[in-house]
Amino acid sequence: MSTHAPGHEDGPHTSDGPPPGGRYDALVIGGGVIGLVTAWRAAQRGLRTALVDPAPGGGAAWVAAGMLAAVTELHYGEQTLLGLNMASARRYPDFVAELEEAGGQDVGHRVCGTLAVAFDADDRAHLRELHTFQQGLGLESEWLTGRECRRLEPMLSPGVHGGLRVAGDHQVDPRRLTAALLIACERAGVAFHRDRAERLLLDGDRAAGVELTGGTRLAAERTVLAAGSLSGRLAGVPEDVLPPVRPVKGQVVRLSVPERYAPFLSRTVRAVVRGGPVYLVPRENSELVIGATSEELGWDTTVTAGGVYELLRDAHEVVPGITELPLVETSAGLRPGSPDNAPMLGPTALPGLLLATGHFRNGVLLTPITGDVMAEALTSGELPPEARPFTPQRFAAPSAAPSAAPSPGAPGAAHSPAQEQHT
Ligand code: GLY
Repeated sequence: MSTHAPGHEDGPHTSDGPPPGGRYDALVIGGGVIGLVTAWRAAQRGLRTALVDPAPGGGAAWVAAGMLAAVTELHYGEQTLLGLNMASARRYPDFVAELEEAGGQDVGHRVCGTLAVAFDADDRAHLRELHTFQQGLGLESEWLTGRECRRLEPMLSPGVHGGLRVAGDHQVDPRRLTAALLIACERAGVAFHRDRAERLLLDGDRAAGVELTGGTRLAAERTVLAAGSLSGRLAGVPEDVLPPVRPVKGQVVRLSVPERYAPFLSRTVRAVVRGGPVYLVPRENSELVIGATSEELGWDTTVTAGGVYELLRDAHEVVPGITELPLVETSAGLRPGSPDNAPMLGPTALPGLLLATGHFRNGVLLTPITGDVMAEALTSGELPPEARPFTPQRFAAPSAAPSAAPSPGAPGAAHSPAQEQHT
């Protein structure tokens, strides 16, 4: 059983030298899905682009289940974020087609929909409330009885008391997505610096690039801080510009479905079990991902017996047959939480410094639109209209970042899921 992401030794080679002229147009700090998509889109626009990360392709997406759950993961008070989530979900089919072409590999995009079910009467009432909220916003969501749920998914427990069928919430495999992005970046000419960003360089009142742990200085016209939950820890960034991100731990379990049980589940199944959320994401490659805890424990990424127990207990209430399946992996990652649960995208108050961080529960879902928005911000200096509510400058007085974290891309985080976004 593995609790860590494997290394990415076969990834793109490191580029040591600066570009002709000595200065990159765009320098991205962080090689998770958000950093990678930003670098890829920037390079496609003709910008001389570099990416700094000791182990690009790691980050929270390595742990994430990959639900594209704009509708089923809707929360009260997040209607503005819903607009961005829906816009990104709409871009997914074209994004996947383009990335699979550019990266030369399948990214496990599964157009399967989601079934959100309730276990007891309280859970049912909660789901009814969500349904009313969804309908009020004009979202596609259909109420089903427990029997109708079981007709769709025969492995569901007789204890399931109704549910919501959301035909538009699909899934992607974040590990394959990341692998394809790495190749797409390499093919687009992104220079990879496999090192840790030590400090932001300033030139007067402008961000001017970054100094790496080994002392190398990379000059850049624009620097993008896309280091997930570690984005608030980069030295040299003025206090009032540091993004207010915090780590929110998520533990995840991976099972596999033997051929004789297939198809075990045909779509993503989410549930509220005695008030606790759990989800089961079945992949076409026989993996079944069960997640996720949500823990405010600072930088801890320990997989705990209690976390795994709760996930398996709740998943078992909904789909009892999981106990027959081999358990192949446990892992934990850190979602980059922001004060309003929405990302910070685009220019900061420091000229030359942009942010692409704080995606919290929606990093994988928001990957396509983040790439487009950041490429636009890097080339024109402006955020497109759909991203303006997510300017980093909405946080006038950022809260202090949590302490005792490694800096972005620190060796201790090199193979941890802590560096980038989580869905
Ligand atoms: N979006 C799923 C999670 O954050 O656990």
